[in-house]
Amino acid sequence: MAVPVVDDEYLKQIEKARRDLRALISSKNCAPIMLRLAWHDAGTFDIATKTGGPNGSIRFEEEYTHGANAGLKIAIDLLEPIKTKVPKVTYADLYQLAGIVAVEVTGGPTIEFVPGRRDSSACPKEGRLPDAKKGSQHLRDVFYRMGLTDKDIVALSGGHTLGKAHSERSGFEGAWTDNPLKFDNYYFVELLKEEATGLLKLPTDKVLVEDPTFRHYVELYAKDEEAFFKDYAESHKKLSELGFTPR
Ligand code: HEM
Repeated sequence: MAVPVVDDEYLKQIEKARRDLRALISSKNCAPIMLRLAWHDAGTFDIATKTGGPNGSIRFEEEYTHGANAGLKIAIDLLEPIKTKVPKVTYADLYQLAGIVAVEVTGGPTIEFVPGRRDSSACPKEGRLPDAKKGSQHLRDVFYRMGLTDKDIVALSGGHTLGKAHSERSGFEGAWTDNPLKFDNYYFVELLKEEATGLLKLPTDKVLVEDPTFRHYVELYAKDEEAFFKDYAESHKKLSELGFTPR
């Protein structure tokens, strides 16, 4: 697939968008929902058919009304005034940049951003994103379909260091850590605690400590935040570039 030329004006608009995103995300404390938006736009990718992926299609009602996307219209609407100011920047790039800035401004690792994604109006069928009530085989089916690995599954699940579940959106309630606006390795620290902490553990979070391959990474990331940040930054970059070949 040919990638559009990203000229100097486009790069200038990306830098403007990055500054505006930093201001928006810190003033509205909306890092968690921005990260979830970026992940849900990208996480529909199917490597076999090269459909879905970070292409901005989540901006359409057909897709943001999928059950898994409940609440994400809030993030889409928050980004619209920035999009108006940087008209050359595609929605696909803007949403991925928002996810990267969300991680950065909450204290997480720097993730390399390569611009040039194209927008698509082809919305994937409902059901490509993971179901929080299912187990490790389901997680693998979904992430392998994207072309991602066991290590990516665990590292990216660390995104739950930010934010919370809302019963009216997903049926689950609560945060994964005591400081849901700080990007750190506490998601893994809490996951390994066997006693009740009052914090949220989705069924798909719990399987990360039950499955031996996943658990290896959980233990590593709980004791070594640097290792988590390094792997997270790599996996997040892969997620943000599914189906996209930078020039
Ligand atoms: C929130 C499921 C992976 C980032 C949620 C919620 C669910 C969920 C049920 C609660 C939504 C709500 O009620 O508002 C899952 C499942 C995953 C997964 C089953 C499979 C592994 C990821 C990944 C990331 C991520 C890979 C990012 C790298 C987030 C964030 C929130 C969230 C930041 C909080 C949103 C907010 O506070 O509004 N996830 N998720 N999740 N998820 Fe995931």
